[in-house]
Amino acid sequence: MNHNPIFLALDVPHLDAAEDLARKVCDHIGGLKLGLEFFCAHGHHGVHEIAKIGLPIFLDLKLHDIPNTVAAAMQAIHVLEPTIVTVHASGGRAMMEDAKAAAGEHTKVVGVTVLTSFDDSDLKPIGISDSPHDQALRLAELAHASGLDGIVCSGHEVAAVHKQWKDGFFVVPGLRLPKGKSGDQKRIVSPREARDAGASVLVIGRPIRNAKDPVAAARAIEATL
Ligand code: C5P
Repeated sequence: MNHNPIFLALDVPHLDAAEDLARKVCDHIGGLKLGLEFFCAHGHHGVHEIAKIGLPIFLDLKLHDIPNTVAAAMQAIHVLEPTIVTVHASGGRAMMEDAKAAAGEHTKVVGVTVLTSFDDSDLKPIGISDSPHDQALRLAELAHASGLDGIVCSGHEVAAVHKQWKDGFFVVPGLRLPKGKSGDQKRIVSPREARDAGASVLVIGRPIRNAKDPVAAARAIEATL
């Protein structure tokens, strides 16, 4: 994988705009993350178009269903040769094992632990009395035991998970430069802090995408690493 850990979240509804943005900043990032918004709108065709830019593709589909369905979905995206695919770790051990078994040899399957848009007050209503930190660590352990390559967690948990899982692959979203707008993200750190704590991939969307000058924003973030 490219040494630049920044994966730009291309959360834009129009394919042309996504391609345009990705081509502009491609020298200052290490990969492109295509999420639900993009995949629901443009499907395989859209992924093929973005893959032409030549950067690794992270398909952030956050799959979560019965094991058989998730394995079938993994097989269906095999042909796209994604570098990284996400499943929800709360889908359980059998689902994660089957997801990994169905994935391509060169695809890293990572488990989403606790969304970075969650804090304590969001976990209680869904029946989880633990803190986001404890719940993320619990799901990280389960993802590890299920044979996944790594997890998605916030920069607040990555150091603790890294201690337990030395060769894990850790994807960290919820990143903002000091004074950056947090939006819906609640458990945020800076890209540099996440890197120093052991993140393998830094997912960055709005701080680059919504900047007046996305190239300058990507360069500024790259320079902090
Ligand atoms: O715009 P921003 O930098 O907040 O984008 C973060 C990206 O990371 C979004 O595409 C979001 O779907 C994704 N993500 C997240 N929290 C997770 C997993 C993925 O914010 N736990």
